[in-house]
Amino acid sequence: MLEWPTVRNTASGRLSGRPGCCLTSTNPRGPDRKLVSSTNSRVVVTKVLCMRLQAVPSGMPQPPGSSEQVLPRLLADGVTWGDSSIWLPKLPTGGVDLFFTSPPYADARAYSRIHPDRYVEWFLPFARAMYDATSDTGSLVINIKNRVAKSGPLKGQRHPYVYQLVIALQNMGWRWLETYIWAKPNAVPGRFGPRTKDAYEYVYHFARGPRPYFDLDAIRVPYKTSTAEIERRKLDVNGRRNTTAGFGRDRTTTYLRGGADPGNVINVSQTYNQHYGVAHTAAMPEGLASFFIKATSPKNAVVIDPFAGGGTTVVVARRLGRRAGGLELHQEFITEARRRVAADEDNDIPGGLVDVG
Ligand SMILES: C[S@@+](CC[C@H](N)C(=O)[O-])C[C@H]1O[C@@H](n2cnc3c(N)ncnc32)[C@H](O)[C@@H]1O
Repeated sequence: MLEWPTVRNTASGRLSGRPGCCLTSTNPRGPDRKLVSSTNSRVVVTKVLCMRLQAVPSGMPQPPGSSEQVLPRLLADGVTWGDSSIWLPKLPTGGVDLFFTSPPYADARAYSRIHPDRYVEWFLPFARAMYDATSDTGSLVINIKNRVAKSGPLKGQRHPYVYQLVIALQNMGWRWLETYIWAKPNAVPGRFGPRTKDAYEYVYHFARGPRPYFDLDAIRVPYKTSTAEIERRKLDVNGRRNTTAGFGRDRTTTYLRGGADPGNVINVSQTYNQHYGVAHTAAMPEGLASFFIKATSPKNAVVIDPFAGGGTTVVVARRLGRRAGGLELHQEFITEARRRVAADEDNDIPGGLVDVG
């Protein structure tokens, strides 16, 4: 494991090697190892490993001085311009019911390039702060995607950073409840080497404590069985039927629950949200957010997205009657996210899952 870069602040202006600023290595053999000394930026950097140092943009709001004001501020703003690594540790202990988020994927987008070898190290401080801020019945739900290593000894193979992250989170104390597969029926074609196109992503559900909130009834889907069969089953007086192998189940109640368990493979079309005018390049479909927010948080719950992007989590959570806020590092996404949050509240568009089966 490589060493974390040493960054020394020598000036009053805050400069840091912030999470979210790592660059893809230009060295085909692995992450860069350079000696950098910059007097102009009044910062002394002794080592840079796959990390770009960047000044916090001037004008970026800092959290309020009193930590009691932090959560009300996030919930009032909808989407706040800010660095989660600074804001999350200021959240009140146990004040959040659900963190639902899609963080930047390793190496994926121009807005934040994080080398996959460094991903776990980059993410853990956020995870620690979220752990402290999550209520006893609360959850952390992360949408994340695998990638093929572009360089280094694993070049051309699937990089294990997602699995390394899951294990690290479990070791931190997060209870790994489930891995969901978000299947994309309309995944975009392309050239991906000796493999098919990527047609799914992961959604990991972690809980803070042993008795997490989970509402299966909120995400049930229509039964696939015919109406006649459902009616017949309701009248079935034989109840539980044991097989010769010695097990069976009571099928008389199967169709009394208002819908079927959707299972842990969730089909949600990638909608690209163009008709909502979403400017973010990686906005998630609202149906995905809707599914997990309904299942893992009650009405009026506090829902926070620390990597809010175009504000999908906040829009959907508020529509579903949750109190929601988010943080976003890049100011250019904030305007559009806030417009979207405000427009949705005004229009009061009813929520609904997209093609969940
Ligand atoms: C995958 S996108 C989220 C997209 C979002 N789910 C949506 O539907 O629009 C991840 C976002 O995290 C933001 N980000 C990265 N590091 C951050 C940080 N330290 N604090 C706040 N936001 C950050 C990026 O700018 C990017 O917009």
